[in-house]
Amino acid sequence: MCSILGLFSNSDVAPTIVSSLKKMEYRGYDSVGVAIKNESAIQTKKGVGKVNAVNDQLQMDKIGGHVGIGHTRWATHGGVTAENAHPHMCNTDSIGVVHNGIIENYVELREELERNHNIIFKSSTDTEVIPNLLQIFYEKSHDVKRAIMDTVQKLKGHYAFLALFKSGELVGVRNHEPLIVGVSDNDLVLTSDVVGLPENISSVIYLDNNQFVIIKNNQYKIYNFEGHAAQFAIKTIPKSYQNVSKGSYDHFTIKEIFEQPTTILAAGEGDDNNLEKIVEFIRDSDFVYVTGSGTSYHISVIAKYLFSRFAGKKVEHVMASEMKYSSRYIIPNSTMFAISQSGESADILEAVSIGKKKNAQILSMINSRNSSLARESIFTVGLNCGPEIGVAATKSYTSQMAILYKIADKLCDNCLAIDFNTISDAYSKILSDTSKIKELAKNIKDISNLFVIGRGVHYPNAKEGALKIKEITYVHAEGIAGGELKHGPLALMDSSTYVIVINPFDDSYVDNISSIHEIKSREAKIIGISNKYDPSYDYWIEIPTIREELYPLLEIIPLQLIAYYLAIERGIDPDYPKNLAKSVTVK
Ligand code: F6R
Repeated sequence: MCSILGLFSNSDVAPTIVSSLKKMEYRGYDSVGVAIKNESAIQTKKGVGKVNAVNDQLQMDKIGGHVGIGHTRWATHGGVTAENAHPHMCNTDSIGVVHNGIIENYVELREELERNHNIIFKSSTDTEVIPNLLQIFYEKSHDVKRAIMDTVQKLKGHYAFLALFKSGELVGVRNHEPLIVGVSDNDLVLTSDVVGLPENISSVIYLDNNQFVIIKNNQYKIYNFEGHAAQFAIKTIPKSYQNVSKGSYDHFTIKEIFEQPTTILAAGEGDDNNLEKIVEFIRDSDFVYVTGSGTSYHISVIAKYLFSRFAGKKVEHVMASEMKYSSRYIIPNSTMFAISQSGESADILEAVSIGKKKNAQILSMINSRNSSLARESIFTVGLNCGPEIGVAATKSYTSQMAILYKIADKLCDNCLAIDFNTISDAYSKILSDTSKIKELAKNIKDISNLFVIGRGVHYPNAKEGALKIKEITYVHAEGIAGGELKHGPLALMDSSTYVIVINPFDDSYVDNISSIHEIKSREAKIIGISNKYDPSYDYWIEIPTIREELYPLLEIIPLQLIAYYLAIERGIDPDYPKNLAKSVTVK
């Protein structure tokens, strides 16, 4: 989604704001802008494109001033134009605002502002109502705190915004979208994402919902929406979130794929108590709902296979965005296990609030331990895979799956006896030679359709592999349960079609070989991901032989690599796929 950043410092803030926006642009990258207050006015520069390109053109980082705000956008309301890029100024140019989220009642507020206050709107965004409301209320009271309290009374929706006043105040307001205050001796920063923190800042305050902070010079005060001083705690952010960089890799996506031999070992570690509690809840529940979106939903489907197969639990997976349509069927007092990398996706937060209304006990698995979802949960286990910047989830997916296996193993009294070092070694082996996958990517770079099939617990991985391919290569890809081919999709097979078959040597192998013959009879080509060679493969992507039940952890790595190298062959930047952004905080 959008990223917002505000900074007060003893020195010029524009260079730091621009470099922080660069670090945060994975959450939105269609346009960018800054507003900086100097001696007499607020100066704004904004344009369409990514941070470096717009900065090269407009020299945003050269504006002088010790307090300012910045924004990278993922458009929701209004097209991708310079006018719609943030910051947005009020009509008197005395207040600038950057915003993440949605103002649901902006149409009626706009009409009211036009009708009663002759406000002229310059953009088609929902955001522009905020600086104008602030300005009208500020004019009445000449009090920034009062103006904020009056403005939030008028706004409906989930949002976080920063406001820069010509009088020098920098304000951050949080209502259901994340907002963090970074503190150090010389600098105070407001950011939607810890990744955006300047390098010298590691002490942070996570604002709660319905709180705002006012920064004036280097003092800050935090209030709730009623205007009372709020309690807060200062926390230290982990080192891995500071100085995030690609290192020697071309893209974050491939760096994160290659981190998996390490991240798989850290999944859920250090959280033993919470993991045990989650296991206890699931063990004692008659019914467990597992929910997530996109990649995290695919993990929910795997949870059903693992928890029912190894622990005999009754589990239902529900897409987070579909929860409200299933809500009347939710069994009261059950357990809801919410899965999310960010813990901020609007859909998962809504699913959890529906669960709460049915008295569900909320458990969660999250990479961001200070997220909104963590606050809604009785117990949370952390992925511990460090920041994931690539928009396509890779290492977070395998960490989520590793935690599921840990839970399943505990539920069945260690029946799986998993040694994650074996998995880590197998990852290293797959990653040590990517030449076959690179060659495959070269050969199939002009295809327009790709199918991925898998059966049983491999089916969600087929869906996940297809999602990765869609997201970063723009090739239409479909994940299909092998047995379903003959019920329709075979109609699409001909000599130009490629089918990736997830085919480890386990109980799905024989049935997959039948599917392969059906596919080959239609002259389509087979890409087999397997530990066992079969002459029907046109391409064989070999994976190491491991304990049979654990193949889902392995087979996803070649699928991630196929998606990555296919994106490269097709000239697409996999870190910034079009129309997408990390962490979807709107419905
Ligand atoms: C795809 C991907 C998305 C997310 C989804 C939910 O690569 O990352 O499908 O999984 O948007 O996000 P979280 O897990 O943060 O709730």
